[in-house]
Amino acid sequence: MPSIKEILNTMEYGPAPESQKEAQAWLEQHGRTFGLFIDNAWTDAGELFASTNPADASKLADLTQATADDVDRAVAAARRAQPGWQALGGHGRAKVLYAIARLLQKHARLFAVLETLDNGKTIRETRDVDLPLAARHFYYHAGWAQLQAEEFADYRAVGVVGQIVPWNFPLLMLSWKIAPALAAGNTVVFKPAEFTSLTAMLFAEICVQAGVPAGVVNIVTGDGAVGEAIVNHAGIDKLAFTGSTEVGRQIRIATAGSGKKLSLELGGKSPFIVFEDADLDAAVEGLVDSIWFNQGQVCCAGSRLLVQESVETKFLAKLRARMDKLTLGAPLEKSIDVGALVDPIQQQRIAELVESARAEGCTVYQPACEMPAAGAWFPPTLITGASTSAAVAQAEIFGPVLVAMSFRTPPEAVQLANNTVYGLAACVWTENISLALDVAPQIKAGVVWINTANQFDAACGFGGYRESGFGREGGREGMYEYMTALSEDARPAAPVLSAPAKSKAAAPVAAGGAFAIDRTAKMYIGGKQARPDGAYSRAVHGFDGAFIAEVGEGSRKDIRNAVEAAHKAGGWSKATAHNRAQVLYYIAENLAARGEEFAARISAMTGASTANAEKEVQASIERLFYYAAYADKYDGLAHQPPMHGVTVALNEPVGVIGIVCPNEAPLLGLISLVAPAIALGNRVVVVPSEAHPLSATDLYQVFDTSDLPGGVVNIVTGSADELARTLATHGDIDAVWRHDGSAAGCAEVERLSAASLKRTWVGGAKGRDWYSTAQAGGRAVLAHASQVKNVWIPYGV
Ligand code: NAI
Repeated sequence: MPSIKEILNTMEYGPAPESQKEAQAWLEQHGRTFGLFIDNAWTDAGELFASTNPADASKLADLTQATADDVDRAVAAARRAQPGWQALGGHGRAKVLYAIARLLQKHARLFAVLETLDNGKTIRETRDVDLPLAARHFYYHAGWAQLQAEEFADYRAVGVVGQIVPWNFPLLMLSWKIAPALAAGNTVVFKPAEFTSLTAMLFAEICVQAGVPAGVVNIVTGDGAVGEAIVNHAGIDKLAFTGSTEVGRQIRIATAGSGKKLSLELGGKSPFIVFEDADLDAAVEGLVDSIWFNQGQVCCAGSRLLVQESVETKFLAKLRARMDKLTLGAPLEKSIDVGALVDPIQQQRIAELVESARAEGCTVYQPACEMPAAGAWFPPTLITGASTSAAVAQAEIFGPVLVAMSFRTPPEAVQLANNTVYGLAACVWTENISLALDVAPQIKAGVVWINTANQFDAACGFGGYRESGFGREGGREGMYEYMTALSEDARPAAPVLSAPAKSKAAAPVAAGGAFAIDRTAKMYIGGKQARPDGAYSRAVHGFDGAFIAEVGEGSRKDIRNAVEAAHKAGGWSKATAHNRAQVLYYIAENLAARGEEFAARISAMTGASTANAEKEVQASIERLFYYAAYADKYDGLAHQPPMHGVTVALNEPVGVIGIVCPNEAPLLGLISLVAPAIALGNRVVVVPSEAHPLSATDLYQVFDTSDLPGGVVNIVTGSADELARTLATHGDIDAVWRHDGSAAGCAEVERLSAASLKRTWVGGAKGRDWYSTAQAGGRAVLAHASQVKNVWIPYGV
């Protein structure tokens, strides 16, 4: 043991291990063997698997591999308990959540040590990050439970929720999942990761002490097979998953068409951008927090350093010097920076990726750390010289490995930042606030930290863009993930449209009739009418089977052209909300000017009475006004998390949305879907009602005279099934909405969207009362048309 003087001279820390006595005693108390927690009781242990301490490979306990029957029992318990939990009311639930938060704080040290033993992460992190954030999550959501009746009056709990989490933040991920679910009145079946289930077992005890009624929280342990059993269980109403993108994709496919609500929080390859005017020393510290926090096993780790060329050499020298000072070793030591990896299998994965970079000629820098003999370890690593397409620059490494690249200009930084399939988080370091706030909205990520890194708070939603998943955890938006709008329950069955009587098709409407054949309606792409690429047309018949006109038979190529046009119209997303509102009002005005004509067309196609057809046109005009009004009122929020600064939650457009319109109310249905999308700055590729497409093709002139920029709305007529398939598989479409009442078609959209993890909004077999603002309007629709980006802006000098 060095003397104090020697320590002061060398500035090295003396050993200060945290005691593991209480945690080991708690494990002993359970005989180091755990059953499952169902209905507030422990089941007998079943088939067992070991949980080990990755820092020294010692065995901590045996856990039960749940069977399908166990999952069944857990779901049944949750189902039985749900009505009672809901009936407890907001205040009743708030008290329970508050009690959980208090108990987490009271037992914080036991939880922190247990987490460190089980996961290998340092005690500094479990004590100072995981536990405080977990408790905060329950406090915050106790508040939402209390306010639910007032703040979410038009919503109800979804029901029984299945939740599956990974091993990197075991208790924190549990809190992120369970707190909002319970606050909203749901009951849960929760599965921790097989490597790290122990704090969930301790949490089960806390639930009993906090007065959580039996069946409200059920915890089943085991591997991916248990996860699959939860995913596929018919008694689950909503699934919330955090983990790898690969498993997220499988879950999307497995739940397609099931009607289960789904949120996915997946992987990332987040950029850490350092501009030349950044406070470089602060940025180095930020980078330490960003990539070496939790050994880099963080979905939002800043694993790609993008540094401006003018300061690259200087910054990397500072970084290497800092890396040399990082301490690696026993995670219970309070001075240790880098702990153990969760399992030797991760160590192997990481080592292989780093070796592949070395083989490709990259430079690999690792400080000279003494590696402990047993357990799973990997030193802090910096890779330079990798190409932007190298595996280490694109794949989620999920370890303490940073890949550095340089850029010259801000636009190049943005381009490199967005050059992955992911979109979870980003850091921007610059002393120039104007530059920071210019860059932040351009980065495709759910969270942007300005001059800080890895900040989290229950009030600020967290979640991804693109293949980092969808849905948010935390904040108001996180609550919506666990609720269903009451208007959804009242949706009617979609009308079954009988095919028009083809026998009458030969006879066009009598000459001189309102709709004698005069032309073949074309597609509408990039603001211009375009002939279908395949040069095929399809006949449109009226309600009585009479032939009315022909429209183009859209193909994959037409959709591709439309998507290209939509991408070129990116300026729409940057237009001011005021400007977008003006265009919507103008469309309404021009539609009103031709109201009679549109009404007559609706009557001819659907057989609606003149009065009803006029009502549909009127409702369409009103809907345009409605979303024009919202365009500049669907504002974001300014959160004030426990930080000296502000977190700005922006409602950003999703991007390019493919929309398959309903057959009922062919004009109103289309307007009700297109208007919210474009009001918020999206561009759309629309497949109008397959049965009654002429309301859409008549709109071209309305659009042309309404200052709508070309490419914002593109219309491709044809087979809903075929075109929806193309939309769902297209790599450059960000979301697909399908509302034509085809259950099989909607399931297919969900299944196919998994390839690029598009957002989907499908109506299934149910229709919608398109006249009802509750069913076809409101913030729930706007939420589909937007995604929240939280920009963290600390201040102070
Ligand atoms: P994983 O995605 O396989 O596991 C996460 C959770 O899902 C675990 O509880 C697991 O038991 C469960 N699971 C596995 N297969 C399932 C299935 N078919 N259906 C339902 N549940 C299933 O992640 P894993 O294997 O632990 O880590 C592999 C890689 O995934 C990591 O190296 C990392 O790149 C990434 N990852 C990303 C995380 C994130 O937070 N974004 C967290 C954990 C891993």
